[in-house]
Amino acid sequence: MHFLAFEGLDGAGKSTLIHGLQRELEAQGQANVMTREPGGSALGDEVRELLLRVQDDAPVPRAEALLYQAVRAQHVERLIKPALAARKWVLCDRFAASSVAFQSGGREINEDEIHWLNGFSTRGLQPDLYVLLDLPVDESLKRLSGRAQDPDRFERENREFHERVRTAYLRQAQAGGERWLVLSALETPVRLQELLLSELKKRKWLN
Ligand SMILES: Nc1ncnc2c1ncn2[C@@H]1O[C@H](COP(=O)(O)OP(=O)(O)OP(=O)(O)O)[C@@H](O)[C@H]1O
Ligand SMILES: [Mg+2]
Repeated sequence: MHFLAFEGLDGAGKSTLIHGLQRELEAQGQANVMTREPGGSALGDEVRELLLRVQDDAPVPRAEALLYQAVRAQHVERLIKPALAARKWVLCDRFAASSVAFQSGGREINEDEIHWLNGFSTRGLQPDLYVLLDLPVDESLKRLSGRAQDPDRFERENREFHERVRTAYLRQAQAGGERWLVLSALETPVRLQELLLSELKKRKWLN
């Protein structure tokens, strides 16, 4: 059992890859939970609505940063740690690296402050592996424009915002060594699944 977090711009293919891995884990009889941030608890799902809302009193960047951390603290204590203690795989759609990418990269809050907040909310728990689906911003915008639902607050941000988010992800991956696997999100879903599974087999986490 291992804790994997999936990161990348909107439309990078996180959900698709997580579902693919989950099917493989099920086929191998490996207990797992699939979860996401913001979310992962009843409180988290309520705060998610506040975070993504576009009308009314939308959160300012520092309120936004703290709301994500509050949701993460709840998520870690109530769902992730118990699942790992029960020897389940945890497949998490976005985790602490998203705070660095979006709140520090995107919103330009000091990175050390975001790292400190991440440490506070997770008590130092980190995924065993971050899987970054790296996608050019143009392609992200193209994939999003094909979707039916209205864009959320992040999806409405300009290209420069998304470029900063992408760069902040790549910098974390570069600094993160073995804890990070960077895959080109331009590969097909089938190929991405193969690349991820072969990495997990190489690490002897999976047969
Ligand atoms: N490897 C891929 N190549 C091309 N298109 C893809 C790939 N993976 C997913 N897609 C398509 O891109 C869109 C977004 O995929 P998906 O929902 O998996 O991304 P996501 O990262 O979970 O997005 P979000 O952040 O919005 O949840 C979907 O229409 C999906 O079919
Ligand atoms: Mg998704």
